[in-house]
Amino acid sequence: MKHLKLGILLFAIAALVTSCKSDKKIEINPAEIAIKGTMEAELTAPPNVPAPVGNRKAKKLLVNMEILEETGTMTDGVEYVYWTFGGSVPGSFIRTRVGDEVEFTLSNHPDNKLPHNIDLHAVTGPGGGATSSFVAPGHEKTFSFKTLNPGLYVYHCATAPVGMHIANGMYGLILVEPEGGLPKVDKEYYIMQGDFYTKGENGEPGLQAFDMKKAVDEDADYVVFNGKVGALTGDNAITANVGETVRLFVGNGGPNLTSSFHVIGEIFDNVHVEGGDLINTNVQTTSIPAGGAAIVDFKVDVPGTFILVDHAIFRAFNKGALGMLKVKGKEDKKLYSGVKQEGIYHPEGGTLQEMPDDGNKKEVVKTGEKSLAEKIASGKQIYTKTCFACHQANGEGIPNAFPPLAKSDYLNADVKRAISVVLHGKTGEITVNGKLYNSVMTKQTLTDEEVADVLTYVYNSWDNNKTNVKVTMVQEVKSTH
Ligand code: CU
Repeated sequence: MKHLKLGILLFAIAALVTSCKSDKKIEINPAEIAIKGTMEAELTAPPNVPAPVGNRKAKKLLVNMEILEETGTMTDGVEYVYWTFGGSVPGSFIRTRVGDEVEFTLSNHPDNKLPHNIDLHAVTGPGGGATSSFVAPGHEKTFSFKTLNPGLYVYHCATAPVGMHIANGMYGLILVEPEGGLPKVDKEYYIMQGDFYTKGENGEPGLQAFDMKKAVDEDADYVVFNGKVGALTGDNAITANVGETVRLFVGNGGPNLTSSFHVIGEIFDNVHVEGGDLINTNVQTTSIPAGGAAIVDFKVDVPGTFILVDHAIFRAFNKGALGMLKVKGKEDKKLYSGVKQEGIYHPEGGTLQEMPDDGNKKEVVKTGEKSLAEKIASGKQIYTKTCFACHQANGEGIPNAFPPLAKSDYLNADVKRAISVVLHGKTGEITVNGKLYNSVMTKQTLTDEEVADVLTYVYNSWDNNKTNVKVTMVQEVKSTH
C-alpha cells in the first residue's frame, strides 16, 4: 500500500514535469494561422528567386502558372522540346510562408499538345494537387491549399507517363518560409538539376526527341543545371562579392538521378538537409534525391570562379552538370595564397634524367633538337600521359567541354599562342572551329623540350599544319611572358 502511494506520487510528479516542459514551447498549429488579405505571388525564372517573405503575415496568395510546350536549346546545335511551368526549366520559383492559403491557377496554353497537371510536394492533399489540376490545352483549373510545413519542396507534372513529363522539364521549387522568414543573406539563387534522354547521343546535333528506352534504363545523355548545358556558366554564371553570404535553393527534378551537389572551392556553412528543418554545418557535398531539395548557404571569403557540380563527376564534365559562381573582390592571401612558388620537380627516373652510359649509346637527351620523327614519337607519349583525357585520342576533344586539337583553327593560327597555353594554362572562353568553349586548362608541368615535342606531335597529327615546334620557340615564348 505504501509502495502504491509512492508510485502514484512519483507518477504525478513525472506528469507535472512533462507537462511543464511541453507548455514552455508555444505550438502554433499552422492550420489555425489566420490569413490577412490577398496578394499575387511573384514568380521568377531560374536562377532568380522572389523577394523574401520577411515578417509579412499569412495571406491568400494567388499563384498563376502557365504551362508552355516550347523548343529550346539543350546545348550548342542541339534543340529539344521542353514542357515547362511558366516557360523555364526548372519552372517558376514560388515563395510562400507557412500558413498562406495558396490559390493556384494552372493554365494550359492553347498551342500545347498535351494535358498536364501539378503535384506540389508542399501540399497536404491527394496527389499534392494533381487530382485537382489536370488540365487540357486551352483550359485552366484552380484549387487551393494551406501551407502547413516550412521547407523547400519540389513540384512537378504528374500526368502519365509521369516520367516523360518530368524528363521533359516539368518540375520546379516551392519554398515555404517559417514564421518571420529565413535568416537574411546577401544573395539568393535558384538551381535545379535534371537528367535528359535524347534519341541522339550527347552532342548529336539537331532537334532531339525524348528517348523512352534510355529514360527507363536511366542512361542519361545530359545531366544539367537549369535545363540546359551552360545555363550557369560564362555570362550566365551566378555572382557574389567577397564577404557576402550566398544561399542556394537547390532542387533535383530527376527524373532518375540523385545529385551529389558540390561547389568546388567552397564549404557549405549550413545545409537544410533535404530542404527540411535539420541543419547540418560544414558540408562539402550534399545529396539531393530526385524529387528532393536542399537549402545551402555559405559566405564567400575569396575572389574567383567557383564551379558548381554534380560530383558524380562525369556528369559535370561530360554531360553538362556544371555551373559557375563568380566572386569578385579583394584577395586575402592569408585565406588562400595562390601559387607561392614553382619549380621543376625531377624525381629519380624523371624524363630529363641522363641515360646511364651503356658504352655505345649516343647522347640523345641533351644534344639539342631531335629529328622530327623522334620528336613526334616522344610527343605522342607525352600526349597520352598529359593531354589525352581531355582532348581525346584523336584530338577530337569533348563537345562543350574541351576543344578539339584536330583540324583546329585556333591551334593552326598561332603557334606562339599554343605554346603559351601549354606553358601557362588557359581559362575562359575561346572559339575553336566556330564553337565556343569555356573551360579550364591547367598549366602543364612540362620541360621546354617536352612542350616542343608534344606540340610538334599535335601539329603533325589530325590534319594540322605540320609545324615543327623548336625548343628555342618555347624558350622565346617563356621569356616574353
Ligand atoms: Cu505534364
